[in-house]
Amino acid sequence: MPTLAVVGVQWGDEGKGKVTDYLAAQADFVVRYQGGANAGHTVVHRGQQFQLHLVPSGILYPGTICLIGNGVVIDPEQLIHELEDLEQRKIDTRSLFISDRAHVIMPYHKEQDRLEEERRGAGRIGTTGRGIGPCYADKVARYGIRMVDLLDRQSLETVLRRVLPFKNALLQSVFHHPGFDAEQLAEQYLRYGEQLRERIVDTVTLVNEAAENGKRVLFEGAQGTLLDIDFGTYPFVTSSSPTAGGVSTGTGLGPTRLQRVVGVSKAYATRVGEGPFPSEEKGTAAEQWLRERGHEYGTTTGRPRRCGWFDAVVARYAVRVNGVTGLAITKLDVLDGLEKVKVCVGYRYQGQVRRSFPTDLRLLAECEPVWQEFPGWEATRTATRYDELPSQAQQYLKAIAELAGAPVALVSVGNEREATIVVEPDLLF
Ligand code: GDP
Ligand code: IMO
Ligand code: MG
Repeated sequence: MPTLAVVGVQWGDEGKGKVTDYLAAQADFVVRYQGGANAGHTVVHRGQQFQLHLVPSGILYPGTICLIGNGVVIDPEQLIHELEDLEQRKIDTRSLFISDRAHVIMPYHKEQDRLEEERRGAGRIGTTGRGIGPCYADKVARYGIRMVDLLDRQSLETVLRRVLPFKNALLQSVFHHPGFDAEQLAEQYLRYGEQLRERIVDTVTLVNEAAENGKRVLFEGAQGTLLDIDFGTYPFVTSSSPTAGGVSTGTGLGPTRLQRVVGVSKAYATRVGEGPFPSEEKGTAAEQWLRERGHEYGTTTGRPRRCGWFDAVVARYAVRVNGVTGLAITKLDVLDGLEKVKVCVGYRYQGQVRRSFPTDLRLLAECEPVWQEFPGWEATRTATRYDELPSQAQQYLKAIAELAGAPVALVSVGNEREATIVVEPDLLF
């Protein structure tokens, strides 16, 4: 099976980095297709921890080609730092390439992100402040700057002359911000272009040739389904398409060529930032258990993550919109030692139980979770095979697979590469 996508089926931070790193052992290419440095993917190998924001989680394998696709928004300064950091830690980054079509996050995007959040006040989204929303907005409004523009002075100056007057007018009149200087921006971003020149290529051709030649290509999603601009809890979402459909628009691989979709989910649930979270445990002992044992603090911003139980309504919805062919259930070990484990199996709304995920956030706010309880277990941490898992843990996995409507392909019981149990190898590479 040469093409496979790893997608988040919750609100991000499901463990996509860990799963991607594990599966990348078999991959020839690892490709990011959307999002930007709002992502924080953790990979732990041989006692070393890596926090990847823009670099695909295949970078630890020498010889694996890592691509940042056209659908990603790139902060070149952040990317250069990340690459320098990896090189300092003796990770070879020469096989990392960037799409010439990817859009560039400019300093005014980050300022706009911060100022808009401030202005939203109580209605804020709780963004990561990385300029993601404003950059995607400019892309769609046809005011964007692409990586290819950083390679040529005339192109960059022309596009800045067209775009900056609008940006500055907005910043000055709405936010009383002094605005940005075109010349200074051009110099700064041409320097980044020079530093990255060798890496900026036509990734659309690379991805398609790889697929045509039977290479194993792994697509690494950032964020998650409930943060998707179309399918998430709008407007409390990110500005891209983390769902499997994003693979096609974000890399140029035709949709019929994506063969497998692995949906990554924690064995419970978390969310960072504002917005609805029906199975949330707020201020309870369960929240404390999950946050402390799961180390649930944001990779990118350090914020404590909101915690709750596995939500089967969300899971079933996500399995559908992604066409998930197999689930990867992570952090099962975090539930070790609990007497009971809960799952949200439906939403009670005006006396009726709903099993579909609502669009209307006002309606969602009125939904009460319908719980099902499962007996807990002692330890999954040391299991290396499915049949070594406690029977209650197996029962729990079986139940969530049934509720979600997709088989479990892989289970993760620790943050290191080795703490991984393959359940259905045929659903992976
Ligand atoms: P991502 O954004 O989806 O890649 O997820 P993050 O890296 O932001 O958050 C997942 C966190 O859980 C990271 O700190 C991982 O090292 C850790 N992790 C991943 N899988 C497991 C697991 O099975 N058990 C435990 N205990 N930690 C895990
Ligand atoms: P990974 O790839 C969790 C959330 C933010 C905020 C909303 C919009 O590590 O799973 P943005 O900065 O994208 O405009 O913020 O999306 N968010 C994430 N939450 N994991 C992420 O990435 C996230 N990226 C964005 O907290 O609620
Ligand atoms: Mg993360």
